[in-house]
Amino acid sequence: MTDIEDYPVTLAEIDGLATRADTVINRLRERVFAPGTQKVLNLRFNVRTASEMVGRTEKAIRDAEGDGRLPEPEKDPDTGRRTGYTLEDVNRMREVFGTLPWRAPEDPATVLAVQNFKGGVGKSTLVVHLAQYLALRGYRVCVIDCDSQGSTTSIFGLNPDVDVDEDEDTLYPFFRHGGPASLHYALRATYWPGIAMIPANLGLYDAEYEFAARMLNEQSFVLDRLRQGIATISDQFDVILLDPPPALGMISLSVLRAANALLIPAPPNNIDFGSTAHFLKMMGATLNELAEHGGARGYHFVKILATKMNDQKSAHQAIKRVMEAVFPQDILQSVLKDSAEIDNATANLMSVYEITGPATRTETHKRCRVYLDAVGREVETLIRKTWPSHHADLRKEGIL
Ligand SMILES: Nc1ncnc2c1ncn2[C@@H]1O[C@H](COP(=O)(O)OP(=O)(O)O)[C@@H](O)[C@H]1O
Ligand SMILES: [Mg+2]
Repeated sequence: MTDIEDYPVTLAEIDGLATRADTVINRLRERVFAPGTQKVLNLRFNVRTASEMVGRTEKAIRDAEGDGRLPEPEKDPDTGRRTGYTLEDVNRMREVFGTLPWRAPEDPATVLAVQNFKGGVGKSTLVVHLAQYLALRGYRVCVIDCDSQGSTTSIFGLNPDVDVDEDEDTLYPFFRHGGPASLHYALRATYWPGIAMIPANLGLYDAEYEFAARMLNEQSFVLDRLRQGIATISDQFDVILLDPPPALGMISLSVLRAANALLIPAPPNNIDFGSTAHFLKMMGATLNELAEHGGARGYHFVKILATKMNDQKSAHQAIKRVMEAVFPQDILQSVLKDSAEIDNATANLMSVYEITGPATRTETHKRCRVYLDAVGREVETLIRKTWPSHHADLRKEGIL
């Protein structure tokens, strides 16, 4: 037997590593979350882009500005030049012209979970970019960060350790014994018009243990709690996006029960695809088991999305082809390619959609926007198909 003293790395040294890792995180965050600053959205659109977004001609916009239905466009006080429209301005135009794409109140709100029990497959990245794609299109979006690591929370400009109180701001109080009756307390606006969020931080991890302990006697309470919570806020939103933790725990199970649509990001490499296959098997088994306990759950759609795809790698192409052959109906046409633009943006806790200025004129950026928009558009169509009030338009667009 080896005595504890014989191991070269002691517990104290591991604690030291953890402290130093915290220092790295804090330095990275200090760059992004400078004290006293708040993240703002600097996106501005010229009248041509605004007209495309709104679905009306430039002339229609000018006329509405001329006759007072819309405010005069903002001008730079120094140069007198138009500063361009914000997303809020564009949404006001959509309201005036009746082109907001909201679901009808009778249509079901879409509760879309981006689920895969593996970490690092691009779940949070996808949640953030889908949320922003949908907000740019004019939908009312809510993002619920269910992962105690809080990556999505950080990209939305909140420092999980500083700006988020686990006992007041996250799902945690709602999951606790005798918690609040609705999720309103945790909803907050973000700096993105049209996106509200429920943030997460490390405190949420305790819910895993507490839920696990209660599973024996209060199984349906535990499993249905998130679904019930979402029902208390869903009337305000078109789409609610759930970003689950990367493990098959109690929170992930509640997410599977709360969602009415699933998107499964799967990088086309052997190891990640192997774990996606495993995930599908576990999910099947878990859903069957839940169904036996009186909680059958159906989904409007379940789709696999190839993420972090690198066309230069023959193995990626080969696996992608196998995926397409095996799941012809279940895999999205569009692919989220492996993109330095995405990696660099998220390293700075930003999304590709909020980058402004000269950086948006590079080829890499433009190409990346094309992939992201294609994924967003495909998911948007899947969502609209679940809303009867959109069917007439979908038929006109030749989609239904
Ligand atoms: N399509 C992509 N191209 C390049 N990097 C990506 C892409 N999607 C995700 N990443 C990077 O991979 C890492 C993990 O992504 P993340 O969305 O946090 O995964 P998850 O939420 O599944 O754990 C992040 O550094 C992110 O920037
Ligand atoms: Mg994540």
